Amino acid sequence: MTGTTETFQATLMHAPNLGSIETIEDALVEVAANGKILAVFRPGEPDYEPTQHKADAEGSLHRFDPGHFLLPGLVDLHIHAPQWPMMGKSLHLPLYEWLEQHTFPLEARYADVDFAQEVYSSLVDALLANGTTTAVYFGTIHNPANQALAEICLDRGQRAFVGKVAMDDVDQCPDYYRDESAALAIRETGELIEFIRKLPENESALVKPIVTPRFIPSCTDELLEGLGALARETDCHIQTHCSESDWQHAFVKERCGKSDSTALQDFGLLTRKTVLAHSNHITEDDCETIKAAGAGIAHCPLSNFYFANAVFPLRSALEKELHVGLGTDISAGPSPSIFDSCRQAVTASRVLEDGVEPKREASRRGREQARIDFRHAFWLATAGGGEVLDIPVGKFAPGYHFDAMAVDINAAAAPLPTWADMDGPEEVLQKIIYSATRANIAKVWVAGREVG
Ligand code: GUN
Ligand code: FE
Repeated sequence: MTGTTETFQATLMHAPNLGSIETIEDALVEVAANGKILAVFRPGEPDYEPTQHKADAEGSLHRFDPGHFLLPGLVDLHIHAPQWPMMGKSLHLPLYEWLEQHTFPLEARYADVDFAQEVYSSLVDALLANGTTTAVYFGTIHNPANQALAEICLDRGQRAFVGKVAMDDVDQCPDYYRDESAALAIRETGELIEFIRKLPENESALVKPIVTPRFIPSCTDELLEGLGALARETDCHIQTHCSESDWQHAFVKERCGKSDSTALQDFGLLTRKTVLAHSNHITEDDCETIKAAGAGIAHCPLSNFYFANAVFPLRSALEKELHVGLGTDISAGPSPSIFDSCRQAVTASRVLEDGVEPKREASRRGREQARIDFRHAFWLATAGGGEVLDIPVGKFAPGYHFDAMAVDINAAAAPLPTWADMDGPEEVLQKIIYSATRANIAKVWVAGREVG
């Protein structure tokens, strides 16, 4: 290992457990050639000085300037890659019309692989610059474009899950943007799984496939059943939208006679490797079902304000010990930054707790004890996301991938207002979570490799 180990000396901040922050000033993080963390040492520990001296002598010690903090990279559990050109537009419509009038016409353009290359390159670069080291992508129905996305992630060094969107229902999907048949959508999903797993330079599975039925309304039973079987046979992750809006929730109830969660379970689509976007309207029974399956939820608070008709009861889900992380849901959520998702998750929880109709008596306006704070939000954005995906990312611990970022609170373009005599490490972290911008993200690493 000598000569290939890299050692980072920095003040690190992470949330190894839900609700608490750990700060280690002047820590040493030893990273193996395979990009995994070997050890984390605190000043004063017996191995600290020998490790530091050895790394220094070998020229493999990375030191940081004052004002730089080492944080885990951010995990975006839910993002629609093809919707990047639409970010910040068309948010005035409800979900159904938004899909029909704006989203499907844009996604149909990815039949053109050159267009896909251009958009996906721009998106992956932007996400890395925003500190997103793991992204879970919905692609489109077109495999050449999905393959391009997987190759771009691999080339740029972003940890990613890439899914071919499957949608075959003749009544719910337009003729110009629909899988020709359930059988073809299942076959092409299988082909993308194989393509990604066999990509040269992807031996470490930095980029993984993910089975992606868009949501129950756009898929026939045959497709959903077939994708459930395929996910089982290939031991693949799964993602879909679950109980997002009043319309979606009611549509599935009407068609399937049960909730999204139960229907997905019956189709074989609810597993330990499933990521359910949103889930705002899940019931207590749904929570039990999701928990028993070990599935996870991608909470996308900003998107929810536009399309979900209700605030996700995050605190309650966390108390039930469901797996939860954060997503941007670009472009239903108009920001590429998971720090923005953190801010909105805190805000949404406060809105839920207080309620918003001033005419209603304060005691009847909201839901008791619904709030979370920045500590929960930071955990959701890092270790919580890793837990949903069942991959070792999101904290600095032996065996975890070194997916990290250096945040510069003094960045010339956007210095954060911190004062040494007023702000301890946890206050600095709080300010980073609430106020850091892309300009503060000085460096980003995935699997020990500097990216972006
Ligand atoms: N439900 C089905 N498709 C979509 C989508 O693209 N975005 C969101 N937010 N919800 C969906
Ligand atoms: Fe979505």
